[in-house]
Amino acid sequence: MQTIYWKLQADNEKSASASLTQAARLLQQGEVVAFPTETVYGLGADGLNGAAVAKIFAAKGRPADNPLILHIADKNDILPLTTGLTANAKALMEAFWPGPLTLIVDKSALIPDEVSAGLDTVGVRMPSHPVAAQLIALTGRPIAAPSANISGKPSPTDAQAVLDDMQGKVAGIVDGGRCGIGVESTVVDTTSPVPMILRPGGITREMLEAVLGAVEVDPTLAGSTDFKPKAPGMKYRHYAPEAAMYLFEGAATGCLPQTAKQAAAQGLKVGVLCSAELAAQFAAAENNIAVSCWGSEVSDLAEQLYALLRAFDKQQVDVILAEGVDEAGLGLAVMNRLRKAAGYQIVTVAAGQLCAKSGTHLPGFMLK
Ligand code: TXA
Ligand code: MG
Repeated sequence: MQTIYWKLQADNEKSASASLTQAARLLQQGEVVAFPTETVYGLGADGLNGAAVAKIFAAKGRPADNPLILHIADKNDILPLTTGLTANAKALMEAFWPGPLTLIVDKSALIPDEVSAGLDTVGVRMPSHPVAAQLIALTGRPIAAPSANISGKPSPTDAQAVLDDMQGKVAGIVDGGRCGIGVESTVVDTTSPVPMILRPGGITREMLEAVLGAVEVDPTLAGSTDFKPKAPGMKYRHYAPEAAMYLFEGAATGCLPQTAKQAAAQGLKVGVLCSAELAAQFAAAENNIAVSCWGSEVSDLAEQLYALLRAFDKQQVDVILAEGVDEAGLGLAVMNRLRKAAGYQIVTVAAGQLCAKSGTHLPGFMLK
């Protein structure tokens, strides 16, 4: 399939709106078009057309039991999609829409099974990105859109990453530059008496609590595998680079530079993802080690995380060692993505020794 690529020019509104009109027409015709949002790029299709939505699953190689989020351009557009909103859902819409928050609500009969994957609920979000908002409004339908990556890979936060995964598989890609937040929206179930975070994201737990009082967090997000996650997508290996990845948490972070050097000395090509503070412990051109560091804020890491993981794939590193961050604020979403990207291979310290958390096997280069 020929994939049309529209590069939007910020200084040429007329040509941008001609491109979006063309993209909207393809969406109305049941085709799949990728577009930027404030979180990550989405892979959109007409959310009320089951056959169009099925094309998203085919392009991504996504398991059919993983439901999609519907994207709308106006708050009132949620009303036909649900049998009713709880007071909590209304409060969250008022506080955080448009923005990176997905509300799980009871679905109406309009929702195709392809979107809700057999559940009685549907996820709805109103993005704040101007390109997303304009495209949805021009299409005049709710747009079903998962992240625009091949299932299991890191989500795309720029159009090149979308091209890498989707060229030839979708009708079009709208290039609106880099996404600002970099991790996906927060998913909150508003149907339960106490709202529950099913996926941490751009709207933090603290921000939700300020509006709602109490919120719960799906226990599986802490890494427990004893329960089935309530967001079906959270059970899959996800956000994952090709190399084996290890996440250093707590006191183990101090051992990361030394461990990376040991691995490199054994001939492995090592990717290191760390703060500027740890990066300072590496020489400018360390043999066999590619150091990617973020700024001082966790929001910098969120913004760059997926692009850095994809860059390690392009550099064909053998192993990635990543430094964990504090879980306050956006840190909860970042740590959730890092743990999943690492396949829960988490390294900590006990009795002065590096050790593996819950079932991880430490590779040879970590053992003294
Ligand atoms: O920021 C985002 O949310 C991006 C952009 C493109 O909007 N979209 C996105 O979609 O991340 P996706 O499909 O990659 O992730 C949707 C998540 C999955 O974990 C899915 O299982 C969950 O939301 N989800 C969707 N509908 C649900 C429902 N009815 N009940 C529980 N979880 C649901
Ligand atoms: Mg996704």
